Amino acid sequence: VAALAPAQTLAGLRLLLTAGPTREALDPVRYISNHSSGKMGFALARAAAELGAEVTLVSGPVTLTTPPGVTRVDVESAEQMHAAVMERVRQHDIFIGCAAVADYRPAQISAQKIKKTADNDEMVLQLVKNPDIIAAVGALANKPFTVGFAAETVDVEQYALDKLHRKRLDMIAANDVSRAGQGFNADDNALTVYWQGDRRELPLSDKLSLARHLLDLVADRYRSSRA
Ligand code: CTP
Ligand code: CA
Repeated sequence: VAALAPAQTLAGLRLLLTAGPTREALDPVRYISNHSSGKMGFALARAAAELGAEVTLVSGPVTLTTPPGVTRVDVESAEQMHAAVMERVRQHDIFIGCAAVADYRPAQISAQKIKKTADNDEMVLQLVKNPDIIAAVGALANKPFTVGFAAETVDVEQYALDKLHRKRLDMIAANDVSRAGQGFNADDNALTVYWQGDRRELPLSDKLSLARHLLDLVADRYRSSRA
């Protein structure tokens, strides 16, 4: 007897996802990054493929295996992730920005390893802003259904709604990363999902279950938006 397959609520839809951190090089041996593990993005990719979507996953450096049926594109920096997304996004129906993109990168990448100096006990790094990938997707004329994430430590709702509007998203999933055991680099997560005029709480659970619930909402809202 075949195992019960999930309803193919994303059948025929092409979904582009970003996941993981980005790495912003300082010199040949050092970089600036963050604690994102990529687990939430990879769980979304796996769940979306199970729901019948054609999934492309643009991933920063992570130590996770590619879910079955998912096309993976590996990148390191925010600029590379931006290029990889803009190259492909017009061929997709849905875009989900799950990556923890570094907001700033070193203004210069030193070609040689930066040396410690005997006479200087301090070092100042100059950083420049990275492109906002999801805002660039949100600004496209025929943009896909666009879903963002917001990791916040205070005023979660206010910041999430601000990002929903400012980046022209169709939906945003907010998590409170000040709570222990959820969000960044954790196995579990809880999300509050906001869209124009409504919201839904997705309670604390493992990231694959959470991904399935979020994608049910996405499929539902996607169809209402195109109806
Ligand atoms: N994002 C992006 N490109 C960036 C920064 C963020 O695509 N350069 C996306 C993330 O993938 C996420 C959403 O924007 O879907 C929100 O990311 P977040 O870091 O919470 O928002 P920021 O606008 O960077 O604001 P801040 O970090 O100051 O809260
Ligand atoms: Ca940010």
